[in-house]
Amino acid sequence: MSDSPENVRARVARRYTQTLQSIEAKRAGETNQAGACCSPSPAADAAPDTRAQAGSGGACCATDLAAPTTSSCGTGYGPEAERHAQAAQSSLGCGNPLAFADVQAGDVVLDLGCGAGLDLLVAAERTGPEGRVIGVDMTDAMLNAARANVAQAGFEERVEVRQGLIEALPVDDSSVDFVVSNCVVNLSPEKERVFAELFRVLRPGGRFRIADIVADELPPKLREDPAAWDGCLAGAIGEGPYREGLAGAGLVDIDIAERAPFEIEDAGLFESVVIVGRKPAA
Ligand SMILES: C[S@@+](CC[C@H](N)C(=O)[O-])C[C@H]1O[C@@H](n2cnc3c(N)ncnc32)[C@H](O)[C@@H]1O
Repeated sequence: MSDSPENVRARVARRYTQTLQSIEAKRAGETNQAGACCSPSPAADAAPDTRAQAGSGGACCATDLAAPTTSSCGTGYGPEAERHAQAAQSSLGCGNPLAFADVQAGDVVLDLGCGAGLDLLVAAERTGPEGRVIGVDMTDAMLNAARANVAQAGFEERVEVRQGLIEALPVDDSSVDFVVSNCVVNLSPEKERVFAELFRVLRPGGRFRIADIVADELPPKLREDPAAWDGCLAGAIGEGPYREGLAGAGLVDIDIAERAPFEIEDAGLFESVVIVGRKPAA
């Protein structure tokens, strides 16, 4: 994308503010123009609808705003989503990074791009009251929604939501046991900075589990389409460069724990993946 990183982030933040507002308006019964996961801009009339084509195992990101969708489309949630229904309705992820994650009681968990906070609540159930969960997001509307959902769950004591960029995390060095993220890294125009921050904040031996979209070859026109970027398509990098970026930051034992390929007509082949790894022990 030829736009500056600052412009890309500002556009993405606007996009997710609109999407959340649509979801909340729909919930309030005011409109049924609700957005869905990582939705492209409403102006993107050519935007593809992955929901229709991804199949049951595919990602739900980049659904067309015009499509009549439910707003919760993080895959792989069970009763957790029912327990936290409002956060689940505003979930815009492309997987469940906490599925099979052995987060321990007492752990410090960090969620990169926490959105309205479903994964914060799921993590907080695992860490228990002796643990701590930190969510970072750049979009004010998302931060407000996350704080409301945390309060509704009664988790204010163990969950903190911080305003910030995943490229410059407002989190201390070597302070986190487990980093999760759900369909956010693909949106970053500076992924190397994100990987470096992931390494910095993890304690030695700390682990990460990131749900994201990867794609090897995409049409150049799609790569330059802002709506496709905001819809979690154009910013997707290949699995190889993703692994190399993480390894280049110093992370090890990088692996794909889950994968669900999907295809979008005229856009290409994508995979919804959960990427795992850890920071080496000191
Ligand atoms: C597709 S939504 C996913 C939200 C959440 N993880 C979920 O599963 O519902 C992307 C979120 O990442 C946030 N985001 C995108 N780029 C970011 C960045 N560079 N720094 C901080 N937050 C970012 C957006 O504000 C939005 O809340």
